Amino acid sequence: MTLPIAVLVSGTGSNLQALIDHIEDGTLPARITAVVANKPEAYGLTRARKHGLAAVGLPHAAFPDRAAYDAALLAAVRDSGAEAVVLAGFMRLLGPEFVAAYRGRILNIHPALLPSFPGLHGQGAAADYGVTIAGATVHFVDEIMDNGPIVIQAAVPARPDDDAKSLGERIMTLEHRIYPQAVNWLATGRLTIHGRKTRLAPADTPLADIGDVMPCLVNPPLEAGF
Ligand code: GAR
Repeated sequence: MTLPIAVLVSGTGSNLQALIDHIEDGTLPARITAVVANKPEAYGLTRARKHGLAAVGLPHAAFPDRAAYDAALLAAVRDSGAEAVVLAGFMRLLGPEFVAAYRGRILNIHPALLPSFPGLHGQGAAADYGVTIAGATVHFVDEIMDNGPIVIQAAVPARPDDDAKSLGERIMTLEHRIYPQAVNWLATGRLTIHGRKTRLAPADTPLADIGDVMPCLVNPPLEAGF
């Protein structure tokens, strides 16, 4: 069984690339039905085309209001056959109708340890604040920005001289590992939502050595292949 997913992007699409790589190497039982960008110039669309995936530019500026855009976005995602939606650097809040249509089946990744530093520029905000531990969060999406139940978080050290770029790069390395892992759990039906919390069903096979990522810094721990 592979889960048909639509991936929404606004920019570079490096998290999209991580998902594609895991799908292609067989560690992520998903199929990307469409990559949709609200910015037609998003490099994520180029990545999609390079891998023979449907790439849809849907510029929000071309729509009269948020509701009209959301309806078109929902139609594009539905028409692609997607059963779940993965936001990979998609810099727009999804409207209530979109969220209702895919409730419990929309994931987002955010470059901060939520609930700290939601919104835009999470990495820079954390660096400016002077945190000593930063990180990334994958969560289910609800109507509120960067708010839904958390699936996985990964922490990295932050240094006094860090800025958005240096800290962001350190966080990004782990984003590329935790997002495919989280989508794998969604695709294999192991995630359930209980109020504000997400539960992960145990794996059928014992956990393998997770290598260089300390279990205490990535929770739940990464499994083999991620
Ligand atoms: C990632 O760092 C992602 O966490 C962030 O945008 C970047 C997209 O990079 N998302 C948010 O800030 C959402 N609030 P990518 O296009 O290379 O995957």
